[in-house]
Amino acid sequence: MKNMHEKVEKNAGLLAILIMIVISFGALVEILPLMYQKETTEPVEGLKPYTALQLEGRDIYIREGCVGCHSQMIRPFRAETERYGHYSVAGETVWEHPFLWGSKRTGPDLARVGGRYSDQWHRVHLHNPRAVVPESNMPGFPWLDENTLDGELTAKKMEVFRGFGVPYTDEDIAGAQAAVKGKTEMDALVAYLQSLGTALK
Ligand code: HEC
Repeated sequence: MKNMHEKVEKNAGLLAILIMIVISFGALVEILPLMYQKETTEPVEGLKPYTALQLEGRDIYIREGCVGCHSQMIRPFRAETERYGHYSVAGETVWEHPFLWGSKRTGPDLARVGGRYSDQWHRVHLHNPRAVVPESNMPGFPWLDENTLDGELTAKKMEVFRGFGVPYTDEDIAGAQAAVKGKTEMDALVAYLQSLGTALK
């Protein structure tokens, strides 16, 4: 046994392989159970799939890089729950592909921003943040007011999400284009923001 140990310690290649096996085993023990726990795989009660317009808004959120400055993940610390509300739970993001938890907070967490401000506030703020928050260093996104959606791909996107297990009905998908066509990107983004975190409030 003693010789075995010496052999491993003196052979860097073997040591590296064994270390990797040990670490992967540790990772598996931590990660695998999460894939089978109801708490982490099932939606929280009252969670609704994004409407066609909200889904388009989410894509604009991704395109504009909002996730680079805003997290959507309230940690279970008092300082966070007093400011943002109930901490985030896994069942709220089971239908997110990809999830937008983020890790950088130049601006506040947005996990529960839905309903905190009026639509009008968001419109003014996204157009030019300084109009409502003078000290803000968030960039303005004025083009969102001008660009309109044609909704050509909305139904396809919803079908992809349905493939991932999001419960979209045939009617949702059939009506997708009509629901977004002619709306501005601002309409879509605001609809998305207003939906955030509302299932568990
Ligand atoms: C360069 C970093 C940066 C980027 C990019 C950015 N933000 Fe912000 N955001 C901030 C900062 C800083 C604040 C706090 C000041 C303010 O309210 O304007 C903020 C505030 C907000 C608020 C108000 C949150 C609250 O609880 O008061 C919302 C909503 C928001 N941002 C949405 C967005 C969206 C949507 C995008 C993408 C289109 C975006 N932000 C892009 C930095 C950023």
